[in-house]
Amino acid sequence: MNIKLTENKNIADVCVEFITKDTLKSQKHKTTLSKAGFGAEQDTLCFLHEKKFLACGIEKQNSDDLRSASSVAIKTLKSAKYKSAFFNVNENNIQAVIEGIVLGGYEYTKYKSTSKTIDLKEIYLVCKDIKKIQKQFEEAIIIADATCFTRDIVNTTPEDLNPPSFAKLAKKLAKENKLECTVLNESKLAQEKMDAMLAVGRASRHESQLIHLTYKPKKKAKKVISLVGKGLTYDSGGLSLKPSASMVTMKMDKAGGCAVLGMIKAISELKLDIEVHAFVGAVENMIGGDAYKPDDVLVTRSGKTVEVRNTDAEGRLVLCDVLDYVQEKVDADYIFDFATLTGACMVALGQYTTGVMGHSNKLKHGFYEASNNSGELVGSLPFNRHLKKLLKSDIADISNVAAKPYGGAITAGLFLDNFIKDENKDKWLHFDIAGSAYTESPWDCNVYGGTGAGVRLMSSFLKSLA
Ligand code: BES
Ligand code: ZN
Ligand code: ZN
Repeated sequence: MNIKLTENKNIADVCVEFITKDTLKSQKHKTTLSKAGFGAEQDTLCFLHEKKFLACGIEKQNSDDLRSASSVAIKTLKSAKYKSAFFNVNENNIQAVIEGIVLGGYEYTKYKSTSKTIDLKEIYLVCKDIKKIQKQFEEAIIIADATCFTRDIVNTTPEDLNPPSFAKLAKKLAKENKLECTVLNESKLAQEKMDAMLAVGRASRHESQLIHLTYKPKKKAKKVISLVGKGLTYDSGGLSLKPSASMVTMKMDKAGGCAVLGMIKAISELKLDIEVHAFVGAVENMIGGDAYKPDDVLVTRSGKTVEVRNTDAEGRLVLCDVLDYVQEKVDADYIFDFATLTGACMVALGQYTTGVMGHSNKLKHGFYEASNNSGELVGSLPFNRHLKKLLKSDIADISNVAAKPYGGAITAGLFLDNFIKDENKDKWLHFDIAGSAYTESPWDCNVYGGTGAGVRLMSSFLKSLA
């Protein structure tokens, strides 16, 4: 499907129009629409085939409503027989409409043995003054495509997407987008004393990998950013094995790693004057004779020791070593980590919202704004000293799980905080995307599978810095 910007509305087979209850009153097809029972309710459609007209109900002319309605519209258009369609856009709604079309129309078909034919080939976005919105158009397409790139990797099975193939994919992206790429395999990780990360991957038949991609702008960088992603290509829980029902979907435990690859792809194509480092800790958490165990004490890269009380709290063990490495290797202005870290984050915020944790309220505010501009939902989960105490261990410096179950997303964030150096406390934020990264039923512009959570949010935040 091709999306083009044009000033000429006469070239497409069908016209898509967004209609509120108010604008319905003056709609030229209002009589036919009302006969068909169309009341302009949000996300309702009415196809007038003989008029080549698709009416889409929206509550208000705002981004959230337009994004959602465009997602519904594109699904219907894809199952119709038209070759082309046009949507009227303007500078206030073009981003939302593109997100609806690209992300709402996304399908992952790699494992389907037969493919359905889709007649719809061209989408025209019609506006009066192309020049005025050309840049917005191009940027929205880059960001939506990068989101689909992230979704594709998340949706890939754990057999096809394992730590070494993750590294291979990152190298391919580096080549295509002219990024620098280094990968540390297990012998290099051992030299780096990343023994917590290595312990998590020990029972896997796939070697753990630390991926590092760098984008350097042509002009002097205005800021340097480190992005860190949890890349658990499968999380069985390890010896603290997950129940069968909870294990299904755990290929998505790499979504943080996939998101940071999508982010660096977007930033390099937007050509922002920001230096970006993307790190992925790619590991598989499995069971076996050489699996790491509850009762083990791990010596992390930082030298701090961790008592393992639950091998299913593995993401933090990977991230603590990667965060320590990152802080030593890159002198960044900001450090952001993305991880499907806790089921507790979903309990706290629901399935649709990314949990944000960290010390700097100013930095969090920057992301509330990015959330408004991107349509990705974020919610802050506050640290406090009482929860921090729950990570105490009697045998090691710290335990990998809290002594009490409440506030589990925050105690996981506080575990990571133990590995953030004092001088970096205000530069760091942790994003728990356990709920927002994957869905089994469609919502907003998300369809079954990976959502690409984080990519639109971070692109919007970094655009505001550049
Ligand atoms: N990958 C999971 C978190 C998760 C759960 C992500 C559900 C997406 C959906 C993580 O490694 C995990 O298992 N966390 C445990 C932590 C607990 C043992 C303290 C959890 O959330 O139950
Ligand atoms: Zn786990
Ligand atoms: Zn996990």
